Amino acid sequence: MTRGSQQVLQDNRPSHRRRDVQTRRAAHTESAAARKSTARPDPPMLIAHLTDPHIGLDTATWPDHPGPAEMLRRAFARVRGLDPAPEVLLLSGDLTDAGREVDYDTLRALLKQELSAHADGGPRVLCIPGNHDDPAAARRVLGELMPVAADAPAGCMCLHVEHGGLHFIGLDTVVPRQPHGALGAAQLDWLARALQRAAGQPVIVLLHHPPLVTGIDAMDACGLLQGGAELARLVAAHGGVQLIAAGHMHRPIVGALGGAPVVVAPSTSHQLELDLRPGAPLAMRFEPPMIGLYRWTAADGIACHFRAVQDFPGPFLV
Ligand SMILES: [Fe+2]
Repeated sequence: MTRGSQQVLQDNRPSHRRRDVQTRRAAHTESAAARKSTARPDPPMLIAHLTDPHIGLDTATWPDHPGPAEMLRRAFARVRGLDPAPEVLLLSGDLTDAGREVDYDTLRALLKQELSAHADGGPRVLCIPGNHDDPAAARRVLGELMPVAADAPAGCMCLHVEHGGLHFIGLDTVVPRQPHGALGAAQLDWLARALQRAAGQPVIVLLHHPPLVTGIDAMDACGLLQGGAELARLVAAHGGVQLIAAGHMHRPIVGALGGAPVVVAPSTSHQLELDLRPGAPLAMRFEPPMIGLYRWTAADGIACHFRAVQDFPGPFLV
C-alpha cells in the first residue's frame, strides 16, 4: 500500500459517481497549468454541510420549535431535494446535546429515512464530534460515518478520507466535559502526517470549534483555545487546503486561517444572537436554519452557498 492508504479510506460510491471522481482527479492533475481553462470537463463536487443538530435537547418550552430531531429531519429533506445532489455530507459536531447513544440512534435513523433510502444511496456522510458529544458513544453508534483513522492518536476521533479527488481531514477538538476546544500536540502531529500524505492534493479540513475570533465574546471564550496557531502554520505549509469547515457558533460566519477560508455553518436547530458588543451575554434567536452547500472543482476552487431549510415562495424566472 502506498501514500498511507491504510489510513485513507477510498471512494465507495456507485459507478456513475466514480466516473466523475476519475474525471476530477485527471482535471486536478492538469489544473496547475490550466487553472483558468474553461473548455475541459471538470465535474463539480458538491458537499453539503450541516452542523449542531443537538438531538436530545429539550426544546418543549421554546416558541414554535418542533424539537431538534424534527429540525434535522427537515434539513436532511432539504439536502435530499437538491439537484444536482451532493456527493458528500459533512456533520461537524454537537450531533447530540448530551452524548446519549439513543440520540445517535435517532440521527442514524433520520439519515437512513431521509437520505440513504433514496436515489442511489445518498451522499457519503462524514461526522466529527463537538463539545456536547460523547465521542466514543458517537463512534459506537455511527460506525462508518465516523471512520477514525487507524493511526489517530488514542481517544481522538480524527479521520482522513479521500473522496472524489478531495482529502477530507476531520479533527476532534473535544476537551472532555469542557465547552471549549483544543488541538493538542498528538493530534497536531497526526494532522501534519495526514497533510503530508495529501501533499500537492486538495484538502478540506472539518472540525467543530472554528479557528477564528468572531467577536461574539461569550462564544469566543469557549472557542478553539489551543492549537489554532499551529493549525494555521500547517494549513499554510500545505498550500492546498480549500476550506476549513466548522460549527459550534450556531451562526453563518466566514473567516480565514493560514490562507484558507474558514466557513462556519449555522445550526440545523437553533441560532445564537448576533451581538458584537463587548461582553454581551449569550442569547438565542430563532432565525431560520440553513444548510451549507459547497461547490468545488480543481479548476474553479471552492464556492460556499447557504440555503434556508424552510421553503419560501419561488423560484420566479427573471
Ligand atoms: Fe452547538
